[in-house]
Amino acid sequence: MKNAIIFGVTGQDGSYLANFLLLKGYKVHGVVRRTSAINRYRIDKIQKNLKKNLILHYGDVTDPLNVFEIIKKIKPREIYNLAAQSHVGISFQKPIYTTTSIVNGSLNILEAIRLMNLSKRTKYYQASSSEMFGNSLKKKLNEKTNFNPQSVYAVSKIYGYYLTRFYRNTYKIFASNGILFNHESPWRSENFVTKKIVNGLVNIKFGLRDKIKIGNLYSKRDWGYAKDYVEGMWKILQHKKPDDFVLSTNKSVSVKNFINLVLKKLKIKGSWKGKGLKEVYIYNRQTIIEVDKKYFRPAEVNYLKGDFSKANKNLNWKPKTNLSKLADVMIDYEFDKIHKKLP
Ligand code: NAP
Ligand code: GDD
Repeated sequence: MKNAIIFGVTGQDGSYLANFLLLKGYKVHGVVRRTSAINRYRIDKIQKNLKKNLILHYGDVTDPLNVFEIIKKIKPREIYNLAAQSHVGISFQKPIYTTTSIVNGSLNILEAIRLMNLSKRTKYYQASSSEMFGNSLKKKLNEKTNFNPQSVYAVSKIYGYYLTRFYRNTYKIFASNGILFNHESPWRSENFVTKKIVNGLVNIKFGLRDKIKIGNLYSKRDWGYAKDYVEGMWKILQHKKPDDFVLSTNKSVSVKNFINLVLKKLKIKGSWKGKGLKEVYIYNRQTIIEVDKKYFRPAEVNYLKGDFSKANKNLNWKPKTNLSKLADVMIDYEFDKIHKKLP
């Protein structure tokens, strides 16, 4: 039975990936942080019959001894490093922790593989990000595009990206970067924009709240479905050689147009009024969406649109879910949450 470690198993991608690997017959070792609040609601959703092959270990990627101990015990075939303070906005307020979790985390794992001579046994996946491209001048972003980071989060991810390439080239470790564009799901945390919009508008629809406050309506993102992207992560590690791959949908949509899509699906028919910080959406003579400067970032990535041709050609990967279907899945989940009181 193949075994894998997932650092960051309690997150959106970690929980989808755990589910995916368990269905493939893997024994999955998930690393969870020992914090005062128990945060396992996503992995709790994994089917009971699969859970017998899911083993949880307490650990923190920033603690090298902890990382070494876990890797030494398991000697896994694959390691997925998804652990990070992953919120770009928060990285402006918590730059040091963001950097430590991303940079030291990656280095601790790669060093463990090197020092334990696991390079022939263990493959390493690095969760790199389209945020690294920042405000690149290119229209379509691929593995050859230069980086132009706009946050400490992005700068740290670039460090992690180059560490991965360095350990691959120098120590011959099978270490690959997945450069993933935004991917969303019902399991996205509520402080990311798509989840915030879907959750907020469904609650407004049911009369459970009055309004949502939002930041920059005009940035554009290439949004896919997390479930499709974790399959891509796995394919990256099954490729004949370690390499770097972009996973994206090749489409870019503004935050405002995503809101319009959700409003339409919820049959909320109102209108946009005003400009800049005064822009609002009025429905039934009430303001249900308001712009709030609190959610603007000191530096913004205005536009992201990927080009997944290399992954398509080499890994036979492509996204299966378009944005409309993704919005449906997210809306359905919020409906269920209200009706069945899901977490
Ligand atoms: P997420 O939901 O925020 O999950 C992050 C995970 O990392 C959580 O399980 C979190 O644990 C864990 N973590 C944070 N600090 C840690 C530490 N010091 N030690 C151990 N675990 C730690 O993020 P995601 O959306 O699943 O993304 C997964 C990875 O892909 C991240 O590295 C992210 O930066 C990257 N990425 C994401 C996207 C995207 O659009 N989702 C795109 C490109 C790259 P707790 O539950 O204890 O907080
Ligand atoms: N979070 C948030 N909240 N973002 C808002 C809001 C708001 O109220 N209003 C507007 N936005 C804008 C942000 O300024 C950004 O331009 C865009 O919506 C998307 O924001 P997020 O959903 O927070 O995602 P992100 O693009 O910053 O980062 C995500 O994708 C990266 C890949 O490109 C994260 O998952 C990162 O971890 C990931 O690397």
